[in-house]
Amino acid sequence: MARFTKIGYVAFNVTDIDRSRAFYQDMVGLQLTETGAGGEVYFRCSGDHHNFVLYPSDKRGLARVGFELESEEELDRALEAVTRAGVKVDEVPAAECASLHQGPSFRFTEPYTGAPFEFYSAMFNFDGDPFIPTVANIQRLGHIGLGTPDSQKAVDFMTRVLGFKVSDRVGSRTTFMRCFPNPFHHSIALVHSARRMFHHLNFMVTEIDDIGRGLWRLTRNQVPVVYGPGRHVASGSVFLYWADPDGMTVEYSYGMEQFPESGPRKPRVLEPMQLNSDCWGGPRSKASGVPIDTDKEEVTQQ
Ligand SMILES: [Fe+2]
Repeated sequence: MARFTKIGYVAFNVTDIDRSRAFYQDMVGLQLTETGAGGEVYFRCSGDHHNFVLYPSDKRGLARVGFELESEEELDRALEAVTRAGVKVDEVPAAECASLHQGPSFRFTEPYTGAPFEFYSAMFNFDGDPFIPTVANIQRLGHIGLGTPDSQKAVDFMTRVLGFKVSDRVGSRTTFMRCFPNPFHHSIALVHSARRMFHHLNFMVTEIDDIGRGLWRLTRNQVPVVYGPGRHVASGSVFLYWADPDGMTVEYSYGMEQFPESGPRKPRVLEPMQLNSDCWGGPRSKASGVPIDTDKEEVTQQ
């Protein structure tokens, strides 16, 4: 199985690039890297060139989920596995890899969520500058939540073909998977839902105060907080979710269980009850999912 370093970046299509650029810089605390030739805006929360990208578009939605492999050999191994599974793969042209500051890369549509995935072997540091946190001590891009009616097939594909490991399940509704051997409890939260949808995007923060400060910064600026603050039982994370200017759900989380590469604990199956989603007993999530196919109407998360 191919070895992954991490979930490296996520890209959104946004309907007002200036509004979203300001939001992710000033409210979320990402650092602007550069604006590309097509008007796309690159942000980072690490030494990478980008961990988040905004593309100007008529329609909001998930544009891409990028995963970094450990090496070009591991990338080749992943390419072989995805191709062998009968999935159509497109190599990213060298010129585009260069503009993304990435090594060799390929893309495919994950067959059961419809999510546009990209695998790449390396991303080049942006002038060697460290990321300097501003309004929040963002530590890393954490994970993405995706929803699909074919959730079991998606879990099978991600575990058998991609080599992801299941960390925990909540009933048959949510499966948390880590992109092995990345140690964090989940890089993907896969939700069983009526439609294929983008569920949420997560950034991990280093202090619990980032959750509290975030709550009041967002509230002061009339940003809709849609869930939290609370604590998820599966990962042990303290969380806060809000809606971005296009209504895409974004999360900060503080603290997450890490797994050793060998001899990890077995996955648990938690009961699908509200107290397992938030053991602080807060109100249910008011977040809305956004269909992966943006021609479809809004979906409401259960
Ligand atoms: Fe999350």
